[in-house]
Amino acid sequence: MTASPDRPDTFGTPYPGLAGASVLSLMEHPPEAVAALLTSAEWLARTPRAAWPRLLEAKMIALIFERPSTRTRVSFEVGITHLGGHALVLAGRDMQMGRGETIEDTAKVLSRMVDAIVLRTGPHETLEELDRHASVPVINSLSYAHHPCQALADALTLRQRFGALDGLRVAYVGDGNNCCASLMIVGALTGMEVVAACPAGYTPDPEIVAWCNATGAGTGGSAWVTDDPAAAAAGARAIYTDTWISMGDEDDADRRRRDLGPYRVDDALVAAAAADAVVLHCLPAHHGEEITYEVLHGPRSAVWDQAENRIYAQAALLGHLLA
Ligand code: CP
Ligand code: NVA
Repeated sequence: MTASPDRPDTFGTPYPGLAGASVLSLMEHPPEAVAALLTSAEWLARTPRAAWPRLLEAKMIALIFERPSTRTRVSFEVGITHLGGHALVLAGRDMQMGRGETIEDTAKVLSRMVDAIVLRTGPHETLEELDRHASVPVINSLSYAHHPCQALADALTLRQRFGALDGLRVAYVGDGNNCCASLMIVGALTGMEVVAACPAGYTPDPEIVAWCNATGAGTGGSAWVTDDPAAAAAGARAIYTDTWISMGDEDDADRRRRDLGPYRVDDALVAAAAADAVVLHCLPAHHGEEITYEVLHGPRSAVWDQAENRIYAQAALLGHLLA
C-alpha cells in the first residue's frame, strides 16, 4: 500500500506540542495532537512489534496502580518493552504513598528517577496534584472522571474499522462515567458525533458536554445526551457501553443495577443501529448486566480489537511524549 499523510510508512515525527507533556484528560491537547497520535498508533498496529523503532531506549516509566487493572497494566508493559523501554509496575498500597507520603514528595522523588509516571487512581485531583509537582510527563491511566488512554484506543478501533472519524456517529449507552466522558472528548477532538443515552442521575458532566460542543465547532464533532437508548442507537456506527458499577461505586451497586437495567446492550438495541455498526466496551464486562454475552461475543463485537489497541494507542502516546 502506498504511504500517505494519514497512512505513513513510519511512526512519524512526534507532534511538537506533545514533547514532555502530560495527558490527564486529552482536553489539554489540540485536535492535531490526537490526529498525530492516532496515525502513529495505526502504524504501530500494522507493523510487527519486533520491527518497532526503539523510541523508548533507556527510558524508565513508572506505572502506579491504586486500583486493579488487567488491560492497562499489560498493554503498557508490552508496548513499553517493544519500544525498548522499561516499565516499573508499582502497587500504590506497597508504596510509602500508601501509608501517607504526600503526592508532592512522591512526584519530586520519582521525577529524579524515571522519565514518565503513569497513574491509576480514584480522584482526578490526585493526578492534577502529581502533575503540578512532577517534572516528567504524567499520564492518567484512569481516574474516576477520565480514562484518556482508553479513549485513544477506542478512536483507533473506530478509525481501523471505518477509516475517517469525522461525521461518525457513536452511541454510548449506560452510566455516563469516566469512559463516557473520555469518549465524548476524543469524539469532539476527532469530529465524531457522540450521543450518550443515560438515565437521570447518570448523565455525563454538563461542563464536559459543553466543552465537547465548543471544541466540535472547529472539528465538526458534537456531543449530546438523551435518556432513550433506541434514539441514540438510530444511525449509530458504534454502540459503546461500560460497567454500571465503576471502581468506587461498589456501595451503590443495587441502586445502580435497578436504575440502569433498561440500558442493557442486547441484540435488539444493536439491531436499531446502522447495518455496519460495531459494539465497543472498555472491559471488564459484566455479562447480562450492561451487555449480553451474545452481543459481547457476537459478530458485531469489536471489543477484542479495542482491548489490543490499548497497546498501540499507549505506545504511540509514549513515543510522542518521550521520543
Ligand atoms: N479498560 C481497562 O482500563 O481495563 P483494566 O481495568 O483491566 O486496565
Ligand atoms: N468505568 C470503569 C472502567 C474500568 C476500566 C471504572 O472506572 O471502573
